[in-house]
Amino acid sequence: MNPPDYEYLRKLLKDHSGLDLSADKQYLIESRLLPLARKAGLADIGELVQKLKGGSSAVVAQVVEAMTTNETFFFRDKVPFDHFRDSIMPEIIKARAARKNIRIWCAAGSTGQEPYSLAMCVKEMSAALGGWRVEIIATDLSQEVLEKSKAGIYSQFEVQRGLPIQMLVKYFKQHGELWQINPDIRAMVQHRQLNLLHDFSQLGVFDIIFCRNVLIYFDQETKINIFGRLARIMEPDGFLVLGAAETVVGLTDVFKPFPDRRGLYRPSGVAGAPGKVGAAMWPKVSAAARL
Ligand SMILES: C[S@@+](CC[C@H](N)C(=O)[O-])C[C@H]1O[C@@H](n2cnc3c(N)ncnc32)[C@H](O)[C@@H]1O
Repeated sequence: MNPPDYEYLRKLLKDHSGLDLSADKQYLIESRLLPLARKAGLADIGELVQKLKGGSSAVVAQVVEAMTTNETFFFRDKVPFDHFRDSIMPEIIKARAARKNIRIWCAAGSTGQEPYSLAMCVKEMSAALGGWRVEIIATDLSQEVLEKSKAGIYSQFEVQRGLPIQMLVKYFKQHGELWQINPDIRAMVQHRQLNLLHDFSQLGVFDIIFCRNVLIYFDQETKINIFGRLARIMEPDGFLVLGAAETVVGLTDVFKPFPDRRGLYRPSGVAGAPGKVGAAMWPKVSAAARL
C-alpha cells in the first residue's frame, strides 16, 4: 500500500468512526481490507481507495465496519457486573422508587454479550423490580454486529467465554451446535445503530451507561467530546461504566471517579444538567421490559 493511500484511509476512518490509527498500522488495514477488496473484484487496496474516492457511501460503510474490532464476551472483566448487581442497581432502585423506571444504555454493545449480560443480571433481580420498567438499549456503529446481537445466537465457544454454566442452562436454548438466548431476555434489549461521533441526545436521559472498550480506539479530543455529551444525557446520580483500560482522569472533569469502585464514574455537574429530567425527556420506546 502506498503512503498516500494509507493516509487517505486513516483520515477516512478517523472521520467516519473515530478510529485513530498510528502511522504504522498498514498491516492492520491490509489484513482487514484486502479480503473486502478481493470480494468486490478489486485487485488491491489501491483500487479500493479509488472506489472510495468515487464517493460510494456503501463502500465507505463496508470499509468502516471491516475496521471495527468487535471483541466481546459475556460478563467481560466480571467486576463491572459485580458492581452493577451489588451497588449500582441497588442504589438506583432506591433512588427511583417513586418513578419505578430505570434506563440503561450499552453504547458499543457489539454482538450482544454485554447488553444480554446486563439483561440477565436485571432478570435475576426481578424480585426487587416487580412493576418496574427497565430499558436496556444496545447500540453499535456496525449493522453486522447488531444483527447478530438481535438474533442472540452464539456458538459453543462464545457461550463458554465468561458465561456461568447455570446462566447458560437457565437463559439459553440449544439448537444443534448453537445456543440462542431466551425470548424474554432478548425482549429486554432494544437495538439501534448509532455512531458515537454523532449526536445521541435523542436517546434521552440515562441512569446507567456502559461504554466499554470503544473509547480506547479514539484520540483524546474525540474522547473528551464524547465524555462531554455522555455527561449531558445522564441523571446527576447516574453511573458511567468504562472499560479496564479507559478513564476520564487527566482528560476531563465532567465525570468524577468513585475512589473505591474502579471503572465507575458519576457526572460532576460541570457539563450541565440533562435538562428537566422526567417522563417528557424520555423518547417513546416500544420494547422496555415490565418486570
Ligand atoms: C471491542 S468492542 C466492545 C464491545 C463491548 N462494549 C465490550 O466491552 O465487550 C467495540 C465496539 O465498538 C463499536 N464501535 C467502534 N466505533 C464506534 C463508533 N464510532 N460508534 C459506535 N460504536 C463504535 C465496534 O463496532 C465494536 O462493536
